[in-house]
Amino acid sequence: MLNVVVLVSGGGTNLQAIIDAVESGAITNTKITGVISNNKNAYALERAENHGVRGLCVSPKGYASREEFNEKFMETVDELKPDLIVLAGFLVVIPPAMIEKYRNRIINIHPSLIPSFCGTGFYGLKVHEAALARGVKVVGATVHFVDEGTDTGPIILQKAVEVQQGDTPEMLQRRVMEQAEWKILPQAINLIANGKVRVENGKVNITE
Ligand code: GAR
Repeated sequence: MLNVVVLVSGGGTNLQAIIDAVESGAITNTKITGVISNNKNAYALERAENHGVRGLCVSPKGYASREEFNEKFMETVDELKPDLIVLAGFLVVIPPAMIEKYRNRIINIHPSLIPSFCGTGFYGLKVHEAALARGVKVVGATVHFVDEGTDTGPIILQKAVEVQQGDTPEMLQRRVMEQAEWKILPQAINLIANGKVRVENGKVNITE
């Protein structure tokens, strides 16, 4: 059984997709042991509670320094004994010590086809604003392992989504979530939970 801890900052629609997939059996061999948010008002925490999943908040605002926060944050994660940590719209930088400790056991969902529209400053709606400003015709989402860089780790799954005439950033964000993120994030967790994902030479191999 894969123990999964999900880290969230906001609405938690990706968390919901994971919960639904576990409940429906689309994800097997998996238990969500906790959800941690840096924001006590995150609706994601309510979603967790509604499904009997433990929700915790660790906010940088509660600590005098980033070091103190990082320490408490890592302690909270460690106590939940995760086999896999899922960043589902988590907007806090992961402490390097945690990346080292959980090498190839932290995954992130990013709302673009990496390496386009990713890296520092590209998160949430900003990604879709940038894609529309550039006039690209195809966008999408990526699930990848987290390494020390921003959105630079080994890519697990990607899914493309077409831009439509008249799209606003909000419309595009919603379509990328519906058609890509809510599908490939649960799919990646299921593959990992069933031992189908290996990282070799910095690249992911998936066995069926
Ligand atoms: C999602 O679109 C996710 O891909 C994005 O934040 C949103 C969170 O929505 N993550 C990033 O931009 C990370 N760089 P949600 O809280 O409804 O899942």
